[in-house]
Amino acid sequence: MSLESEAARRRTFAIISHPDAGKTTLTEKLLLYANAIHLAGSVKSRKAARHAVSDWMQMEKERGISVTSSVLQFEHMGSALNLLDTPGHADFSEDTFRTLAAVDSAVMLMDHAKGIEPRTLKLFEVCRLRGLPVITFMNKLDRSGLEPLALVDEIAHTLNLEIAPINWPVGMGKEFRGVVELATRELCLYEAGDHGQKKINVKRMPWDEAEETVGSSTYSRVSEELELIDGAGTAWDRRAFLSGKVSPVFWGSAMTNFGVDPLLTFLAKEAAPPAARVTEDGEEIDPHDTRFSGFVFKIQANMNPRHRDRIGFMRVVSGHFERGMDVIIGRNGETLRMAKPHSFMAQERSIVDEAWPGDIVGVYDSGHLRVGDTLAKGTSIRYAGIPQFAPEHFGRLRLKDPLKRKSLDTGLEQLAQEGVIQVFLRPDTGWQDPYLGAVGLLQFAVLEERLKNDYNVNAVFEPLQFRHARWVGGNPAGIAWLKARPSSYVLVSDRFGQPVVLAESVWGLNYATEEVPGLEFHTIQPMESP
Ligand code: G4P
Repeated sequence: MSLESEAARRRTFAIISHPDAGKTTLTEKLLLYANAIHLAGSVKSRKAARHAVSDWMQMEKERGISVTSSVLQFEHMGSALNLLDTPGHADFSEDTFRTLAAVDSAVMLMDHAKGIEPRTLKLFEVCRLRGLPVITFMNKLDRSGLEPLALVDEIAHTLNLEIAPINWPVGMGKEFRGVVELATRELCLYEAGDHGQKKINVKRMPWDEAEETVGSSTYSRVSEELELIDGAGTAWDRRAFLSGKVSPVFWGSAMTNFGVDPLLTFLAKEAAPPAARVTEDGEEIDPHDTRFSGFVFKIQANMNPRHRDRIGFMRVVSGHFERGMDVIIGRNGETLRMAKPHSFMAQERSIVDEAWPGDIVGVYDSGHLRVGDTLAKGTSIRYAGIPQFAPEHFGRLRLKDPLKRKSLDTGLEQLAQEGVIQVFLRPDTGWQDPYLGAVGLLQFAVLEERLKNDYNVNAVFEPLQFRHARWVGGNPAGIAWLKARPSSYVLVSDRFGQPVVLAESVWGLNYATEEVPGLEFHTIQPMESP
């Protein structure tokens, strides 16, 4: 095993989608086709378990579940695939966005009846920011949906993304006949069947001979569409794909397994191998660099309430990771021993002896790690930070017992560093009674429970009316302008001291940028080193 060959066969990716587009179903089918699970249903039941619960004990269980399903490692066609979960629904949080900092490609999954939905768009924007290659999968072809050409057009325009169809649908809903593979001009025939089992041999025939099979009106319509795509569409180009400019598009129906196999083959063969990463000093470290390095993109705490353990999710960037090695935390030079590193295989967590660039390793931690930390062997490295994302939910904490003020302050500071919530300090009060922000509401529930369990602080969460937070940049006069209008703009700072404006509507924000030339509002901000 060489570093080069192990790195080259890694494919680390996430599926981004709006709730209900079929992510759980697709995940399950990818595992089924890669022989990582043998019967569809296990991922699904985990999802059901996740969403049927609400109280704290259940939340513990839920987090246990989400950790085991956070990273799925499986092999296919000689490639080692790492699929990182990006939770949807209620457990959607900043972690979801941060996960995208740890992948090399994303599958953008859409319900073809809905097109681009809000959460897909947001997640896509994060991918765009990183220049991630994005593979599009149009799901639910067994149901009727939007016109394929209109849908492709919508994506191209809304996302400003070139689209390269790899296959093209023939009918939809009850009329769904299959897809034409563009490279071979073959029709892959759709057969509805037993959804739990894998179907291997999809019947194929040359498109030129398919008129009788699909009916002449469908045949002539699809032939026209194919001509149009040939003439006006973007040809498949791997380099353009890897640079994030072109998205290959697949069509299928995850529920009935149709179209899963070509996607999986594509992921194994064409998806991006591990990328280099840039340090804060601007040095680019290649996966083949023999110095081991990785960064922490997520911390999951209290996996087991009796042990108060936390797991840092580390993405390996370069070199060979070995169990038992000592690594240096770039932020403070502290040394950590990688005594019990874990890997995640479908439902099981197990001790891992080694890992390669692209892999995700679970590192047990007793409070040394922070989100964004770099770990490296024999050298101190600091990768440029994982960004912070503008929260959409806001609130503050009301302390039940005033004598616990100090514990509350400590708890809040530590939990903010861990990435549980964001803290916004008001100029007059600082860490006393800060405003809190989160991307997903569940983050507040986690905060309350963590304060109670880890810091013995009973605090009640009270929502605030804000809906938007923007980091303020550009023209420095903007800050003074905002400060001069305290009844309209609430100016606070994040825990790194960066100015942030909180607002109830975008209207006020737009007005400010119109009034102050050069004033900039950012929804994503690099996490400044503390
Ligand atoms: P999510 O993780 O993105 O939220 O979506 P999930 O896979 O749970 O799918 C959401 C719903 O869409 C499920 O139906 C699922 O069966 C259905 N679905 C997924 N892929 C397809 C597809 O290719 N075709 C069709 N017709 N439906 C699909 P549900 O009614 O919410 O759940 P269930 O009763 O099927 O379990």
